[in-house]
Amino acid sequence: CGIVGYIGNKDAKEILLSGLEKLEYRGYDSAGIAIVNEKGVHLFKEKGRIAALRNIVDSNIDGTAGIGHTRWATHGPPSRVNAHPHQSTSHRFTLVHNGVIENYEEIKADHLQEVPFVSETDTEVIVQLVERFMDEGNTVEKAFRQTLSLLKGSYAIALIDETDPDKIYVGKNKSPLLVGLGDGVNVIASDAMAMIKTTNEFVELMDQEIVIVTRDSVTIKNLAGVSISRESYIAELDASDIEKGTYPHYMLKEIDEQPLVIRNIISKYQDENGEVKLDENIRNAVNAADRIYIIAAGTSYNAGLVGKQLIENIAKKPVETHIASEFLYNMPLISKNPLFIFISQSGETADSRGVLVAVKKLGYPALTITNVPGSTLSREADYTLHTYGGPEIAVASTKAYTAQMAVLSLLAVDSAKAQGFELDFDPIKELSIVATVMETLCDQKEALEKIARDYLSVTRNCFFIGRASDYYVVLEGALKLKEISYIQAEGFAGGELKHGTIALIEKGTPVFALATQEHVNLSIRGNVKEVAARGATPCIISLEGLNFEDDQFVVPKVHEYLTPLVTVIPMQLIAYYAALHRGCDVDKPRNLAKSVTVE
Ligand code: G6P
Repeated sequence: CGIVGYIGNKDAKEILLSGLEKLEYRGYDSAGIAIVNEKGVHLFKEKGRIAALRNIVDSNIDGTAGIGHTRWATHGPPSRVNAHPHQSTSHRFTLVHNGVIENYEEIKADHLQEVPFVSETDTEVIVQLVERFMDEGNTVEKAFRQTLSLLKGSYAIALIDETDPDKIYVGKNKSPLLVGLGDGVNVIASDAMAMIKTTNEFVELMDQEIVIVTRDSVTIKNLAGVSISRESYIAELDASDIEKGTYPHYMLKEIDEQPLVIRNIISKYQDENGEVKLDENIRNAVNAADRIYIIAAGTSYNAGLVGKQLIENIAKKPVETHIASEFLYNMPLISKNPLFIFISQSGETADSRGVLVAVKKLGYPALTITNVPGSTLSREADYTLHTYGGPEIAVASTKAYTAQMAVLSLLAVDSAKAQGFELDFDPIKELSIVATVMETLCDQKEALEKIARDYLSVTRNCFFIGRASDYYVVLEGALKLKEISYIQAEGFAGGELKHGTIALIEKGTPVFALATQEHVNLSIRGNVKEVAARGATPCIISLEGLNFEDDQFVVPKVHEYLTPLVTVIPMQLIAYYAALHRGCDVDKPRNLAKSVTVE
């Protein structure tokens, strides 16, 4: 979910709505805003997208303060009633919340037994609890602090009080939240992007802090009421980076940006002699480790699988890659001197953060590779490597994935050099070739659109197979396709499909096979024959030099370590066109959110 708040001198409703549009990537099943003025609180909520909310907001309501929310449902299905903001029974208090309150049933039983709840959300207990503590004769601030002290779980909260339209109360624990500073105006947002048109100066909040925001002041306190001072920072975000320009979808724009991102990474991680150079502390941390644990979710996990191979091949360090949500509850034995590497586009994924908190408690060093420096995972780790991808807005991740793998390859090279290994490839040169090949692939949209049309227009399911590092890329290819086209797509190791899943192959089932690794080229082609013999329609994507005459698509040659960075591009584009032809909402697929800040 995403939250925004505004208190200033302009029409709050437009600023809140456009802020929410920028946060739609965090969830978009329902949304709401509340405007407060001297006449009271005016509440608008709707199921669906922000566009649906826009249609019901009364344009005659004036007000220069308010809060807003876009939801990704956790407790209670998407509906107008469950949408935020939520109000206390008297309607004096109105509140938006991102996160999950784990003890809400307990709070209801202990403090709110007589209160008539209107929604099925965990959030409603918060606003009712503030009202309950007010009834006991507290100030709003005290009641708010008292409420937050009772909450277990994660929250980013903004609260308004009908009787005092000149204040917004803010609270944070685990979920991200920033306060933006302007002249006679202050804002709050889950992500700086939402309010960048109003200000680029922000203050970070730490867990278990509250903030009292007025037009001219921002007062941070801890839950005991002690004031805290904090320096602000300037968010390096260009408002134009978050527009899609002439592109029909962010996803297509972001696919096309990949060559630029790779060139950006090359220039950022190169010293004056054109050599790869990482921060010395990071190099030392990598080399001090006897084993590396990569932790991530979704597409970042798929990049982590490739990262394992890059680090093991180049830097000769053992690496394990783990799904964050599994690792937390099923930890393997940890080596003596581990290094934890968190890979996260957003830097906010709650599953990954859960592991970070746990391993920091155990005293282990942590490095975060992220597209958002200053994000929670970046702040809380010992070290950060920035992927320099620029904002990624489409829910399906594309440029963040290739950027993560590029940075992992540089980390591997940097470590290998520091260990005194002879390198068999020049990373700067090879990544430059990758960028050029990416451009060539992005220019072949017509051919890839045709493949999408020929293979995926009507099918219900399809398979992706690959061996060695191609296996990792087909996992990402399948994920991309299922996320945005809703075709059931599964990635398999080439040799594994026959051990069960081949039962699903029928006449015409599309099977995409990736063939870019010399040592398994013949075996993957053998696997293609097995499925073709059972009626499948194969589509082989191979690497120049290893291609056979009737392969459907050939990718120009790059170094064998770096093939995942280029072979994923045809898969991204095939997924894009398949989704487009099937009439799906490419940038905002159903049920998903770009940044999932709940466990
Ligand atoms: C969500 C997104 C995925 C993403 C995953 C991890 O589920 O829908 O596209 O890969 O989170 O996100 P992160 O920001 O940690 O890379």
